[in-house]
Amino acid sequence: MASKQNRPPRERFLTQQTPDPRLNSLWSRPELARTLNFWHDGQRTGKQKGAASLDFRPALVDSRLFPFEIFRRVSAKQLRQMELKPPAFKSPQGNQGHFPLRTAIATHIGISRAVVSEPDDVLVTAGAQQAFDILARVLVTPGVTTVAIEDPGYPPMRAAFLAAGARVVPVPVDAQGLVVDALPIPVQIVCVCPSHQFPFGVSMSAQRRMALLNFARKSGAVIVEDDYDGEFRYDGTPLQALRSTSTADDVFYVGTFSKCMLPALRLGFVVAPQWAMPALITAKNCLDWHCPTLTQMVVARFIAEGHLARHVRKLRDVYRTRRDLIREILQSNFSGELSPMQSHYGMHVAAFSTLPKHLERVTARLLGLNVHLHSFERYFFGAPTSEGLVFGYGAIDIDDIEQGLKALRRVL
Ligand SMILES: Cc1ncc(COP(=O)(O)O)c(C=O)c1O
Repeated sequence: MASKQNRPPRERFLTQQTPDPRLNSLWSRPELARTLNFWHDGQRTGKQKGAASLDFRPALVDSRLFPFEIFRRVSAKQLRQMELKPPAFKSPQGNQGHFPLRTAIATHIGISRAVVSEPDDVLVTAGAQQAFDILARVLVTPGVTTVAIEDPGYPPMRAAFLAAGARVVPVPVDAQGLVVDALPIPVQIVCVCPSHQFPFGVSMSAQRRMALLNFARKSGAVIVEDDYDGEFRYDGTPLQALRSTSTADDVFYVGTFSKCMLPALRLGFVVAPQWAMPALITAKNCLDWHCPTLTQMVVARFIAEGHLARHVRKLRDVYRTRRDLIREILQSNFSGELSPMQSHYGMHVAAFSTLPKHLERVTARLLGLNVHLHSFERYFFGAPTSEGLVFGYGAIDIDDIEQGLKALRRVL
């Protein structure tokens, strides 16, 4: 008899339909697998296989522009440091992350995001995703805690809270960001991307920020602020991160090196209130003790020597040019059909559709032409309430943007 491992994928999939009673059923909920799989566009077939694609998927970055040579040099030096002075043997228990990295993070977010913090406020995590997971473990009581999430939103974030057994409630987003008046009551956790909403790309207005902070203060809820691409700001009035000294008790500020450096590093952090830090460290130690020391040492030096700031400056120019081109083409060639939203940050811009067309069909046809473009649909948790497209420009060159949008013009 074929083992489970050797069964063809479809059969494996079918057997997963009825979860084995030995499994914790929280991990077999179909919406959980779906949310973690949101990048996937289905199999490419025939001629498309092997052909280079035009990739507008959001949340991708241009790894080709990363200064690998400098990173290699810094890595070699840090490895040599390790060799000369091996880290002393001590229990990894209580490890909150490499101290020089926590120091570098506190300085970096102080300069780039005006977030005031001390190294002791920072927990180093394996990307923002692990920060969400640790926060969910520590803040959620299964079956009791209600978590409000933006809808549409970043699917893997909600997966962490679903897996922890939270009651996850979708909250609408409009041109000013999360609709604070629509928050469920009571609610214990509010997850939000105030700088650059994912996927709409809007920045939360000053009034909404104030309303959200007041809401948290009055209701006792905490806020999880996902600031995944806050370093890449192109224009507009700078708006502070939600986490400031006056809100340090209510806001968990999550950052990542996936956008400003490389997603493959799997390095992120959470700046947390002091009352929560001991529990967060225990949860992190329970998961993996700490992130790999060598990677932390290298990234700390990379930041301290100014390479991160230089890299971000360079990327900002490249990304801004791509964003401006997409907006320009959308405004000139798709006017009356697609209206691009304001987007002052990051690596994607969203456009609302006024077409009486189901855009999932349009994106499926584009995939047949090797163009990866997502409609809003997959980012909704509840029933989709608007139609539109998300144009990621983190991993697509100027020529390919033009070509991809020509293909979209033909298909629309
Ligand atoms: C909205 C949003 N939040 C957070 C992240 C962080 O991801 P990571 O787990 O790689 O740090 C991403 C990455 O694509 C993102 O798009």
